[in-house]
Amino acid sequence: MGLKLKMEKRLNMNETVKKAVVITGCSSGIGRAAALFLAQQGWVVFATVRREADAEALRSSHLDGLIPVCPLDLTRLEQINAAVDLIKGELDRRGIAGLSGVVNNAGGGGVAPIEAMDLEIFRTELQTRLWGPVALLQATLPLVRTAQGRVIWIVTPSLMPVPYVASIHACDFAANCLARTLQLELKPWGIPCIQIRCGGIDTPAASRTQTEMNRELQQPDSRLALYRDALEKEMASLRQFDQQRSAPEEVAKKVFQALTERRPRARYRVGYLSGLAAAVELLPQPWMDWVLAKREK
Ligand SMILES: NC(=O)c1ccc[n+]([C@@H]2O[C@H](COP(=O)([O-])OP(=O)(O)OC[C@H]3O[C@@H](n4cnc5c(N)ncnc54)[C@H](OP(=O)(O)O)[C@@H]3O)[C@@H](O)[C@H]2O)c1
Repeated sequence: MGLKLKMEKRLNMNETVKKAVVITGCSSGIGRAAALFLAQQGWVVFATVRREADAEALRSSHLDGLIPVCPLDLTRLEQINAAVDLIKGELDRRGIAGLSGVVNNAGGGGVAPIEAMDLEIFRTELQTRLWGPVALLQATLPLVRTAQGRVIWIVTPSLMPVPYVASIHACDFAANCLARTLQLELKPWGIPCIQIRCGGIDTPAASRTQTEMNRELQQPDSRLALYRDALEKEMASLRQFDQQRSAPEEVAKKVFQALTERRPRARYRVGYLSGLAAAVELLPQPWMDWVLAKREK
């Protein structure tokens, strides 16, 4: 067979080799945008959601490779195991060897000062952002290894203490530890572990934050009343911030870049004020604490 023919054959084979990815939390926001974008690029996307109505909404986009995985609540081990069984079965059925990516996106969290934080919401967020992703990775890493895939974490842009969102940011600090530790542990197999560090992104989470803040302020809880002035000030600056948020599709494109770039970076940055936040993180901790304390005056 001539060289030209051989190359053409190889190219045709590559065209038919599908790549598959799992993305958690695809009912809305970043997860949904990433799932749609990757499916539009021809990837097989296992898009996890908790509710059948959200699975149905994904199906109605009529994208060939978009496969809703439902239910997947990351606080439930039996649902994680069932989802991975479904993914394995579907990969076999489609003749796809392994997963080219696992994107840890799902998250929720609440807004409140630590003193008045709802402990159940905090526990759920820790499970959703840390315990669940570890369980999911334990079950999917053999598939990622097979495809020489990548692990991606959607996180905030900076390790910076921000008042009233500790339930979210504590998870980001810990996710940073998991991502960077995995980067070292998975090095022998050449599996990159990548953080997509997002600034302000325009998703339902933004309006939920405002609603929650408002609700918190209505509570006749005396401990919360101590924070009323500070929370009202925070809400005013949040309203301004919300007007500048970037579209979730920008994150979707970064996810695609991180999954496909030949030499992926350990961190990508995207979205409103993500650059400034990343710069603040470079400050020595005592300086950062000083700058943040000034802001709270
Ligand atoms: N928006 C931003 O500005 C921003 C900035 C930096 C980082 N992030 C991070 O980006 C990720 C996505 O957030 P988003 O802004 O796109 O918010 P979103 O639209 O509210 O999406 C969150 C997704 O996570 C899912 N989820 C929540 N708890 C879950 C659980 N226990 N098990 C499985 N799925 C669960 C939600 O499902 P349900 O619909 O069933 O609740 C939803 O699909 C989060 O981890 C967030 O911390 C967001």
